Amino acid sequence: MCESLISTTNPTDFAQNSLHLAGRMDGALAVVLMLSAMAVLLFGVESQQRVCYSGPPPEPDPDNPDHWMKQVMQEIRKNCPGRRQPTPAVTEKPCTTANSTDPEWRLVFKGVAGTGVKLHDMWTAMNWTSSYEASGHCRDNSLYQAWRNGQLNVRRVKLSLYDSSGVRAELIFNGTGSDIKSWFTQTRLISSPWDDLKSAQFTGSVGNGRLFSIDGDVRLLSLDRRFFINNNYGSCAGDKGWLVVTESAARVHCPWETETAAYPHPIILYSTTNQTVSWDDVRSNGAAVGRADSLTIHIMLSEPGSTTTARPEVEGEQ
Ligand SMILES: *[C@@H]1O[C@H](CO)[C@@H](O)[C@H](O)[C@H]1NC(C)=O
Ligand SMILES: *[C@@H]1O[C@H](CO)[C@@H](O)[C@H](O)[C@H]1NC(C)=O
Ligand SMILES: *[C@@H]1O[C@H](CO)[C@@H](O)[C@H](O)[C@H]1NC(C)=O
Ligand SMILES: *[C@@H]1O[C@H](CO)[C@@H](O)[C@H](O)[C@H]1NC(C)=O
Repeated sequence: MCESLISTTNPTDFAQNSLHLAGRMDGALAVVLMLSAMAVLLFGVESQQRVCYSGPPPEPDPDNPDHWMKQVMQEIRKNCPGRRQPTPAVTEKPCTTANSTDPEWRLVFKGVAGTGVKLHDMWTAMNWTSSYEASGHCRDNSLYQAWRNGQLNVRRVKLSLYDSSGVRAELIFNGTGSDIKSWFTQTRLISSPWDDLKSAQFTGSVGNGRLFSIDGDVRLLSLDRRFFINNNYGSCAGDKGWLVVTESAARVHCPWETETAAYPHPIILYSTTNQTVSWDDVRSNGAAVGRADSLTIHIMLSEPGSTTTARPEVEGEQ
């Protein structure tokens, strides 16, 4: 599923295009073509390369001119650009990336907003539920388990936020000696889009809202804020921060984290400026608070491909 990150299309766009096409046809053919398109879609998750170029065409329909078929095939080709790397036929992992310009970063996790599945649960659960992949989530379980078991020399961790136009924010952390949660701290932060983050104060009680953690704030069964980098609490309207994943409609405390029809939970909010923002500004649809479609976690190993524990970390050579 995670190849969609680096492709110019995704199954949703494709489905919409197919629907659009089908809408211009009479009922019977539309059904046939939709079923074919669905087959291509479902099958395409496993082996997109093959479907895009030599997969079975839609079922022929004798009652209709075959130019519809050609258009459908054109549509499929258009949606399957040739830049994709060939995928291994048998051992494809759900989160493999094929970004040859930057092979050092290995995708471990992608969590998608608005699907009703909590990102924190997906990231912290020991076992991965492969049915999540139908919604675009993915986790590279071999990397994940190795990291979790202390068998990986993780050198850097990158958290990225995406919307429909691509990467909107990247945070890079020192991953040396980290586990799946401990990398996400201010002390390990190497770079971020936010100039005031490195020097911000994260001390004091949780109640003052100075938080920088994956576990975030889930107090009193009324909050469910994860991957939380927050500057302060100020009675909702004064709440300010840099990044938050607000996970659940059942645990909403402030108007700014309330879901809407267009933006169901989980909701990923972040500052699009170079500093902290008022979360409440998201309600006025101002530009300062961005909504991300997805969040990814990449790692760079000390020695690309290494899964040993013996090799010492070498720092400062870059
Ligand atoms: C590959 O990674 C580089 C560096 O992170 C990025 O600039 C580029 O857009 C990526 N390429 C694709 C096709 O996603
Ligand atoms: C997780 O996976 C292990 C090994 O496959 C299995 O024994 C265990 O029951 C699973 N746990 C859950 C909560 O599904
Ligand atoms: C990364 O963390 C390790 C362990 O805490 C430390 O020794 C190293 O100096 C850090 N590197 C950078 C670039 O911050
Ligand atoms: C932050 O952005 C503002 C305007 O967007 C700019 O004027 C200011 O110089 C930036 N601050 C830093 C530290 O780059």
